Amino acid sequence: MLNDRLTIALSKGRMQDGALALFARAGVIIPESELNSRKLIVNSADGRYSFVLVKPGDAPTYVQYGVADAGVCGRDVLMESRADVHEPLDLKFGRCKIAVAGKREVLGQDYNLLATVRVGTKYPRIATDYFHAKGVPIEVIPLSGSVELAPLLGLSDRIVDLVETGQTLKENGLEVIDVITESTARLIVNRASFHLKRIEVGALIARLTEALKP
Ligand code: PRP
Repeated sequence: MLNDRLTIALSKGRMQDGALALFARAGVIIPESELNSRKLIVNSADGRYSFVLVKPGDAPTYVQYGVADAGVCGRDVLMESRADVHEPLDLKFGRCKIAVAGKREVLGQDYNLLATVRVGTKYPRIATDYFHAKGVPIEVIPLSGSVELAPLLGLSDRIVDLVETGQTLKENGLEVIDVITESTARLIVNRASFHLKRIEVGALIARLTEALKP
């Protein structure tokens, strides 16, 4: 019997519309009045799910610590967080790339020409892992937005950033140098909830799987 309400951390911003559309296809509706409010905890119409609306980078934290049983976040955010959570389902929306980019003039330039490559990014761990795997020493310049500005202003030699349409790079005279990884939205589940609420979690995964079918 289903008796426990599941709490789901939902990333605000870029991911939110795709997530809400998918949940709606799965029959999980959040009333408009709730969505249009400034509430940070909203309930589905059937009362089976509570959604906590969080900053994208925080979703894995809420789930890892178990204050949310499950969550929706990008694979990019998950990789960067290194959170210890289950990742049972690729939700297929929010498709983007995490790429190294730079000014057109540096395309093909050997990293050896720079003693240390300065990399502006919102993804310090992903950037560090990528360059260290190549044996290239880097200095991470941590930024939280408008990352494309860094090479334009000479703050960094490269950036590691999310590329969706490529429009932001193009309009700022930057180009992709290498794609580190592809990313889509993922369902993540707290490890304890996965076992203790396995019927409810299983029902959620089944509903979403069905909704993902073409
Ligand atoms: C992201 C990313 C790029 C842009 C890429 O920024 O950091 O700047 O979107 O999208 P595009 O390839 O479709 O142009 P976001 O919109 O999240 O804003 P931010 O710069 O404040 O982080």
